Amino acid sequence: MHFDKSVKIRAEIDSDREAVYRLTVDAFEHSDFGHNGEAELINAVRSGHRDTFSLVAVFNDKPIGYLLCSPCSIETQNESIVGMAIGPVAVASKWQKRGVGTLLMEGCVQHAIDSHWNYLVVAGHPDFYARFKFELLSKLGLKHCFAGMPDNIFFIRFFKAVQASKFADGQLRYCAEFGPQNRFEL
Ligand SMILES: CC(C)(COP(=O)(O)OP(=O)(O)OC[C@H]1O[C@@H](n2cnc3c(N)ncnc32)[C@H](O)[C@@H]1OP(=O)(O)O)[C@@H](O)C(=O)NCCC(=O)NCCS
Repeated sequence: MHFDKSVKIRAEIDSDREAVYRLTVDAFEHSDFGHNGEAELINAVRSGHRDTFSLVAVFNDKPIGYLLCSPCSIETQNESIVGMAIGPVAVASKWQKRGVGTLLMEGCVQHAIDSHWNYLVVAGHPDFYARFKFELLSKLGLKHCFAGMPDNIFFIRFFKAVQASKFADGQLRYCAEFGPQNRFEL
């Protein structure tokens, strides 16, 4: 893969926000599904939660890629375990397929390890996320709570010596800004 070494990954700062908005709209507009409010979702999640984590990929210190993590939980009958959900992830259309998304994901995984997070989850294409040692949520018996969304796009990676089997039948919940999660209430 061609990779431009002048692309750097760093934590997002307030002055990145406008560029992040624009690059997110651009990335999704050029995707198969189009832009469906992902840029606004980022703003809503940032305003609603202090404990988000976000990375930007920069070229000449201008954002060209972005990754957001927000708190989520896996709930079983007996307990709840907190983790972080990756998404949206966006790379400006002109920069796609040049390794920028990979750098963002690697930066995020490293931060999760350094910060002793329990796990990361992500919803997206298996060809991309399987590279980062994520496995299907459903393989571990876990379920997401979004009615109408397929199971085979949700992935998880545990970081601690958490026994995944302990959470079989657990339900994964993103923060409320991601929309209704009433799959098991219908
Ligand atoms: C998904 C995305 C972040 C990947 O960023 P990127 O910088 O293009 O990724 P990289 O260059 O590091 O890796 C690209 C590889 O992942 C694969 N890939 C990326 N997105 C893919 C997708 N949606 N479906 C299948 N494969 C995908 C590419 O085929 C490529 O494979 P290769 O290395 O064998 O050529 C970027 O394509 C993007 O912004 N897409 C639009 C927004 C989006 O769909 N975000 C994800 C959901 S939140």
